[in-house]
Amino acid sequence: MTDLNPFFADLKRPYVFPIIEQKLEDCRKRYPDVQILNFGIGDIALPLAPAIVEAMVRATIEMGQSSSLRGYGPSEGYSFLRSAIAANTYQGLNISQDEIFISDGTNSDVANVQELFPSNCFVGIPDPTYPVYLDTNIIAGREKNIRILPCTNETRFVPTPPSEHCDIVYLCSPNNPTGEALTRDELANWVSWAQEHKAVLILDHAYAAFVTSDNVPKSIYEIPGAHEVAIECKSFSKSAGFTGLRCGYMVMPKTLKGTVAGAPNSIHSLWAKRTGIKSNGVSYPVQRAAEASLSEAGKKQTEEQVALYLRNAQALKKGLEEKGFCCFGGVNSPYIWCAVPNGMKSWDFFDYLLNTCQIISVPGSGFGKLGEGFIRFSAFSTEEKISLALKRIENICVSC
Ligand code: MLT
Repeated sequence: MTDLNPFFADLKRPYVFPIIEQKLEDCRKRYPDVQILNFGIGDIALPLAPAIVEAMVRATIEMGQSSSLRGYGPSEGYSFLRSAIAANTYQGLNISQDEIFISDGTNSDVANVQELFPSNCFVGIPDPTYPVYLDTNIIAGREKNIRILPCTNETRFVPTPPSEHCDIVYLCSPNNPTGEALTRDELANWVSWAQEHKAVLILDHAYAAFVTSDNVPKSIYEIPGAHEVAIECKSFSKSAGFTGLRCGYMVMPKTLKGTVAGAPNSIHSLWAKRTGIKSNGVSYPVQRAAEASLSEAGKKQTEEQVALYLRNAQALKKGLEEKGFCCFGGVNSPYIWCAVPNGMKSWDFFDYLLNTCQIISVPGSGFGKLGEGFIRFSAFSTEEKISLALKRIENICVSC
């Protein structure tokens, strides 16, 4: 028999979202007449904005006409979308459209970007955080080279630069799952650290649209020096409801350099090569839909959706705190990070909430060892469901 990649065996923790999906299914069978309130995976609760739907329909009709048919598109994305992103999201930040690579979403980008680096490089990964960074590096054989960056109460639930060397560091800000964001000073500190260590920062900025605090940047390229040390990944999933459509992008400034066999090499050119080999791009209607989310009408409609999710987050957090829960996040993020009461384990409290209140959350331990003792609530929901959840929680016993 053929040898398989042995590093899959190093994945010790099961991926959390399929387990929750299964528990949700089981719960539906157990309580067929009860409305289950899902604050688990951060999936949208509102329909696509009209400007997005119209653009996608128009693009699909175009493809059905011989005068305007479209086959393969550019691997790195259509110029109309790349230029719309450069003009809107990166206005004044010195990012050109050819530094933007369109993909099917941040999940793929943060999973794939590690291919640019050698298998023996040292990787800094926050804990708790989005599990994909750790798991993809484990599969690539780097388990022994992983350096954990704690995100605990002592660090305000965001990572701080380590004293040990790392070649690459993943940052997620606003952090999934803790909902806390790196401030301008904290991000600037990371950029200085990366310059000193000749390291590359990979910033997962999928939740940038939720940033409302003035001292939290909406792009790492607001920080001087970031163009030489940072890759930024953004997504239309959470900002424009694309979880089912799939579209995101990675920003790779041309000034970002590494070495190959000791000689300087452009990270951008390696990624361009990799994209050409491994991707045939994202579908034309989806890219037109993403472009429409950046139009005046699209921005207005999607910003209203984000504002509603943020109001939900604040209402949920306030209600949980009034009940006696210790909560974090929920200000620059749709996620609320909540200490599990009564010294229970994350999964035990998840099951307790599901069985007593029919509420789905995500156990903190699914995001890393240091997530144990916490639970995450997603505010991608409706106002009605948030109030119903708070009523159901009223009777449970809490002490932090
Ligand atoms: C989450 O709930 O953490 C995210 O929605 C998962 C994802 O984006 O893949």
